[in-house]
Amino acid sequence: MARSFPRCKVFQSGFAILLACSAAVGAWANGSAAVRRLEPPQAWLFFGDEFAARSAPSLKAPESSLRVKRGMNILMTQAADDLEGHPWLGWECDGGTFWIPGAYLTRVAKANQKPGNLPIGEEVVNYDEALPLKYAPDDLEELPLEFRYSASIPYPLRTEAREHAIAFLRAAQDEGVSLKVVSAFRTMETQRRLYLEKVKETGLGESLVAKPGHSEHQLGTTIDVAGPDKASLLAPEFGDTREGQWVKQNCRRFGFVISYTAKNRPLTHYSSEPWHLRYVGVDKAKDWKP
Ligand code: DAL
Ligand code: ZN
Repeated sequence: MARSFPRCKVFQSGFAILLACSAAVGAWANGSAAVRRLEPPQAWLFFGDEFAARSAPSLKAPESSLRVKRGMNILMTQAADDLEGHPWLGWECDGGTFWIPGAYLTRVAKANQKPGNLPIGEEVVNYDEALPLKYAPDDLEELPLEFRYSASIPYPLRTEAREHAIAFLRAAQDEGVSLKVVSAFRTMETQRRLYLEKVKETGLGESLVAKPGHSEHQLGTTIDVAGPDKASLLAPEFGDTREGQWVKQNCRRFGFVISYTAKNRPLTHYSSEPWHLRYVGVDKAKDWKP
């Protein structure tokens, strides 16, 4: 039967619950996963629906009766990678250690903890560092119909990014290159849904969809573009199409950069996405190293 956290300290912080535990630390090792102590302990937010914490950092480890629910902040004291190399975080409680995959946990970068719109090109958002989950810029505007992949979707963008996107898409059009926007601003909720669906499909090592709070789409400055060829829609082959080549050669002069490439994958963690363009400003785009 599911139980709560009987001997853990529970703090109410905003809508979230902060869990900590004062039990003695017991080192755990299964001979293959090295456990590291987190000094000082780190609070991580669980954004999944519900997860039965494991007694070891592995999906194959027995499920404990301790169920973590969405919105809980947990004070993690240990970290380890499972046999597939996926990170897990754990905490000691009630005499045992409980583990959750890092794939369902997030924490907001200090740099992003300020009010108002984040300055364009200076936002910190990547695989490790997140935006405040409720972050949404207040200058989002719809994209003109002619550049929408689907007429009924507004594809909002921040004013400056939108102006540059329109100029970029018009320049393509003028050269006979047809590009449409397939995704623009995404809320944390949308990203969460997309991410959890993808993890269900492909497992903990997901590298195509960012965790909620970790997507550049939440900045309101990022677009996914597509050409007329359906087979290359959001596919690596887009980079080889005429449209993909045009994007690569011209995006920087309009202030956009291709965030995820085969070359920077070891740094970004994400698969190459030749269709994913982040607006950072014309000056910054010139020597941007994503
Ligand atoms: N596809 C990129 C990584 C995102 O989900 O933001
Ligand atoms: Zn994208």
